[in-house]
Amino acid sequence: MKTEIRQSLAECLRFARELGLESTTLNPRFFAPAQPAAVTAAKSAPARPAAPAASPRPDARPASPPSAPTPRRVAPASAGIAAADAFSFSIPAMPGTMGQEPRPAAESLPAIRSDLGECTRCKLHSLGRHNIVFGDGNAQPRLVFVGEGPGADEDEQGLPFVGRAGQLLTDMIEKGMGLARSEVYICNVVKCRPPGNRTPEADEIAACLPFLRRQLRALAPELIIALGATAAHALLGTQPGRGPLNALRGRIHSLEISGWPARVLVTYHPAYLLRDPRQKKEAWKDLQIAMHDLKLAIKPTSLSDGS
Ligand code: URA
Repeated sequence: MKTEIRQSLAECLRFARELGLESTTLNPRFFAPAQPAAVTAAKSAPARPAAPAASPRPDARPASPPSAPTPRRVAPASAGIAAADAFSFSIPAMPGTMGQEPRPAAESLPAIRSDLGECTRCKLHSLGRHNIVFGDGNAQPRLVFVGEGPGADEDEQGLPFVGRAGQLLTDMIEKGMGLARSEVYICNVVKCRPPGNRTPEADEIAACLPFLRRQLRALAPELIIALGATAAHALLGTQPGRGPLNALRGRIHSLEISGWPARVLVTYHPAYLLRDPRQKKEAWKDLQIAMHDLKLAIKPTSLSDGS
């Protein structure tokens, strides 16, 4: 290799190191036998249009983001086109700058509630809703419970889990886990009551899910407990009707909510436990997993005997 090229390459490498670039790949074509002059000239033409005079803000979203960050080529101007052609530098992708979706910053709950407004995004708003039930509790909780959707009492009061199922949930939190209900946050997948307490439909869940996700991102709890199949499938992205809820119980699922690493435990819905109290001991096993995870002291409780 000619001395001047060797020097150019060394300069390029020094420059790359200064930039903190992670890896450098030699371009094999650079070391191929010389090509006829006309072809070489064509290759030297800039492959991309010249950069605009004013550079975009570093956090600006590209108009249509590429699916994966493309390694950019970087070379010092002084190294000249020949040495620049010898390298491909892989630049570590930085969120928001290299075609990755920027991570939305956590919002405040009041901002999310205000964006939800007097929601008419799905048909539930016209099917007898009295109040939107956004959620209730500690805005900086270690633990969040997510139910299915408001029932009649919740629709009436605008608060989650205030009926019979809510009383059992309160017992699970207070008598079972030894926490105050006010220490945790409680919300639902859909914020409006489905008529006749039917299961929310797919389009209703799809309309509400972005708000639940923003809510959870804002709360950023250590653990989320999904109460019942609707909450479990909505949060985990699993298919309703494909296998029993039981298959999702017994372990903590890791997932990402807008770049935030969420952890979800699945248990039975309190309304189901009211219908089949024998399952309370199973729910108690789930609560014990949560308590162990959150390092809460485990005490014997009435929940364990199915009462
Ligand atoms: N059932 C739910 O899923 N949510 C409530 O808020 C009340 C009952």
